[in-house]
Amino acid sequence: MWSIRNRNWFFTVACGCWCFQLVKAQQSKHIDTPEVLLCDELCEFSAWAMHAYCGERMLGDLPLQCREVKTLDVRLNDIHSLKSGRLSEFDNLKYLFLVGNNMSEVEDGAFEGCEGIQFLSWGGNNFTRLTRSKFVGLRNLMHMLMDNSNIREIETEAFIETPLLKTLDLTGNKFISPPCDVVHPQNVLTDLSLSDNFISILPEGCFSRFQNLERLKLSNNPIRLITNLSTFEGLHSLKKLEMDNTSLTSLPVGSFRHIHTVNEFVLSRNLIKVLEERDFATLPEVEVLRLDHNHIHAIHSRTFVDLQSLRLLVISNNKIMSIGLHAFIPVETTLEELYLDGNELRSIHNISASSIRSLKNLSLARNPLECHCHLSTFRHSTSGMEQGGASVTCRKSNGVEVNIFETTLTATPCPKPTPGPVNPRARIGPTNKPTMPIYGETTEQLETNELSTSQQNIFYVLIFLMVLTVMLGCALLVWWILRVKMRKNRKYSKPVEDNNNVKDKSDNYDVI
Ligand SMILES: *[C@@H]1O[C@H](CO)[C@@H](O)[C@H](O)[C@H]1NC(C)=O
Ligand SMILES: *[C@@H]1O[C@H](CO)[C@@H](O)[C@H](O)[C@H]1NC(C)=O
Ligand SMILES: *[C@@H]1O[C@H](CO)[C@@H](O)[C@H](O)[C@H]1NC(C)=O
Ligand SMILES: *[C@@H]1O[C@H](CO)[C@@H](O)[C@H](O)[C@H]1NC(C)=O
Ligand SMILES: *[C@@H]1O[C@H](CO)[C@@H](O)[C@H](O)[C@H]1NC(C)=O
Ligand SMILES: *[C@@H]1O[C@H](CO)[C@@H](O)[C@H](O)[C@H]1NC(C)=O
Repeated sequence: MWSIRNRNWFFTVACGCWCFQLVKAQQSKHIDTPEVLLCDELCEFSAWAMHAYCGERMLGDLPLQCREVKTLDVRLNDIHSLKSGRLSEFDNLKYLFLVGNNMSEVEDGAFEGCEGIQFLSWGGNNFTRLTRSKFVGLRNLMHMLMDNSNIREIETEAFIETPLLKTLDLTGNKFISPPCDVVHPQNVLTDLSLSDNFISILPEGCFSRFQNLERLKLSNNPIRLITNLSTFEGLHSLKKLEMDNTSLTSLPVGSFRHIHTVNEFVLSRNLIKVLEERDFATLPEVEVLRLDHNHIHAIHSRTFVDLQSLRLLVISNNKIMSIGLHAFIPVETTLEELYLDGNELRSIHNISASSIRSLKNLSLARNPLECHCHLSTFRHSTSGMEQGGASVTCRKSNGVEVNIFETTLTATPCPKPTPGPVNPRARIGPTNKPTMPIYGETTEQLETNELSTSQQNIFYVLIFLMVLTVMLGCALLVWWILRVKMRKNRKYSKPVEDNNNVKDKSDNYDVI
């Protein structure tokens, strides 16, 4: 009997202890995690959009109390590692921002169970090397931004795990060669940025897997030379290629022979010295070509021969002294904007603006132009675009620099206008009266009249006043002579009888 009672007591105590422990454990768990706060107490939370902004809150981990959200923004916190299984608790997650967390550890399978994520922005972290297993689970990811994250390497075919990836931003990392083989041959990537890396090596066939790529950025890399001519092979859909500030010194023949579809090509801020014959062969669809801030001093006559679609050409801020004769003739029906400002051009004889029939904007500012007949060609073709022409100056034979709109370019043996259809854009503004033919094509240097238009106007007014004065004087003289004659006639023909009659008679006389 005693032993049974004793046993019951023992069980009661044990059970009580266990329950106490359980409650205590539960309590301590609640205190340890920040789950005491609701999502809208911890973050800026919109229940309507299912959007939580939890940036800059010194969080060390993902806030599980926001596990219902569609958009989770935990940028600029201290989430240094991404633990496996943690993200899968966010069932509705579609847009995830993990930017700027100094994150260096991503556990394998960290994204497992995250099939809903379409957009992942996690630049500004510290990854160094990424393997394929990190991306498992991102089956529906479409856009991934991983800029400025110290990445040197990504495992071969790592993005097999993200078959729907369209945008990949790897700007500002540590690549020395593009990650050529990270995508599956059947990928759908359209946008790739590799700007601001340390890329100097472009292996043969590097982009052969990027058949759907439309925009490729390689700006701000020390590329210097393209020696592997099949580097760009396979880029069958490329529309825009940006290679500005890549230390290129020339465009080796055939460098771009594999890309036929590009319509915007940016080569600004390189070290290119000459535009050779057919440098842009095989690029018939280029509409926009930017070559500003290079060291170009000469353009070959046949450079643009194959650019049948060229609409905008920027060659500002180079050292251009010579442009091959009729270099722009191949693009005369398509070119609308031509920027040649900040060069070393003395004459525009070879480009004679009136020959580029489609031209709408032409900029020639900051060139050491000589005041010459051809400039009036430019002046008239730019009468609709004063903005570009307003600052164009030319130097007269005596060295004085004048604005081309404020000087009169007179021509002693002025070239005859070539017969043919009149350029409809060569309208004549009220201030720039033509004092010479417009469509001159010869090279004779012409003298510049010293008088400005306003001075000329004053001169004409003075002449007019003088002529008027002389004519008035003559008229007065004639009137006086006639009057004297009349008086004489009256004296001898009729004797004076009555003052009143005299007046009537003289009136009658006048009438007769
Ligand atoms: C990032 O974390 C590393 C350690 O993982 C540390 O050495 C470094 O100072 C941190 N950088 C910043 C900007 O917090
Ligand atoms: C990245 O991590 C390394 C250590 O893994 C650290 O030395 C370095 O300072 C970190 N870089 C940044 C920008 O925090
Ligand atoms: C050319 O490609 C080969 C491999 O295909 C590579 O080793 C070499 O560095 C590349 N050269 C340049 C200048 O990119
Ligand atoms: C050009 O690229 C270098 C690095 O290659 C960078 O330091 C520099 O700021 C860039 N210049 C411009 C104007 O972007
Ligand atoms: C005009 O074209 C001819 C022939 O291509 C060339 O020799 C000359 O240097 C060019 N002149 C200028 C000013 O560009
Ligand atoms: C080009 O000309 C158009 C009008 O013809 C003008 O609106 C536009 O601003 C010009 N572009 C530049 C860069 O000056």
